Amino acid sequence: MQVYREDPEAIRAELQAGLLADQPHVLPKYLYDALGARLFEAITELPEYTPTRQEAEIFDRSMADIVQGLPASACLIDLGAGSCRKAARVIPLLRPVQYLAVDISVEFMGNCLEALRREFPGLRVEGLGIDFSEGLSVNAIDAMVPQGRPRVFFYPGSSIGNFHPDEAERFLRGLLIDTSAQALIIGVDMVKPARVLELAYDDPLGVTAAFNRNMLLHLNRRLGADFAIADWDHRAVFNTTHSRIEMHLVARRDLQVQWPGGSRLFVKGDWIHTENSYKYSIESFSALLGRAGYSVAGVFQDSHKGFAVFVGYPQAV
Ligand code: AVJ
Repeated sequence: MQVYREDPEAIRAELQAGLLADQPHVLPKYLYDALGARLFEAITELPEYTPTRQEAEIFDRSMADIVQGLPASACLIDLGAGSCRKAARVIPLLRPVQYLAVDISVEFMGNCLEALRREFPGLRVEGLGIDFSEGLSVNAIDAMVPQGRPRVFFYPGSSIGNFHPDEAERFLRGLLIDTSAQALIIGVDMVKPARVLELAYDDPLGVTAAFNRNMLLHLNRRLGADFAIADWDHRAVFNTTHSRIEMHLVARRDLQVQWPGGSRLFVKGDWIHTENSYKYSIESFSALLGRAGYSVAGVFQDSHKGFAVFVGYPQAV
């Protein structure tokens, strides 16, 4: 497994800049420390949070059609592989010769790669621990995947929703231009009524609230800050203008947060913006794929049409 660790100083600088901005914000990747990754797993079990189950339904019903026509003897590159369980559904039908799991969080990756090696003897299985939220590094991929081997990118789970649509377009174009994607399988959550989405991101059990508030514990460790969990409320709102769920952490009282090298005053009701999760329609995401240089070869939906899996190829030139 190849791991590219980020410079802790750069991380502190990024976190501090976000906390001191006019609208304080922290990037969603900081939701995923070891506990955050487990809390997200718990979210996927909630009745109100449907993307994971709806995507699984699509894979159950349509995997053979999804991989139909994809290049043989490929490398399957799994973006945000997590526990690699989704890839385990693709591999038997796509039959790639190589599997490359890519994830910022490598805590669980070793075990899941080992399990895949046992499950698929003969498949070359590798892991790459890297933050690809600002684009996937060509060099990191070229170091792992032999030149000339078709590259099939797999980006399930609707994590593309964390990007602003312009950034999503740039990121997906980068997969084509920089890392020579020959195909893309991508999962996208569909826009739904605001009250449905807000329940999915603010569940009655409070798991998503714990997931969001846990970010403050992560910040305390990474930045040496003194956030007190009890001072902050979780909030999830659907922003109709931007077609996105926003997660905020809202100050319950006037307070000051300190860390080595900085501090900030928050007035009761001030908030830290912690996540955007953009929601698309079939039309809006097909258009985005088109702008990014893909032609859409297939669109697959679950029975409730809450989620979609798109298959894209490079547009013929
Ligand atoms: C992992 C980014 C797809 O946006 O639905 C779940 C993260 N945040 N509940 C999403 C998340 C709150 C999730 N993604």
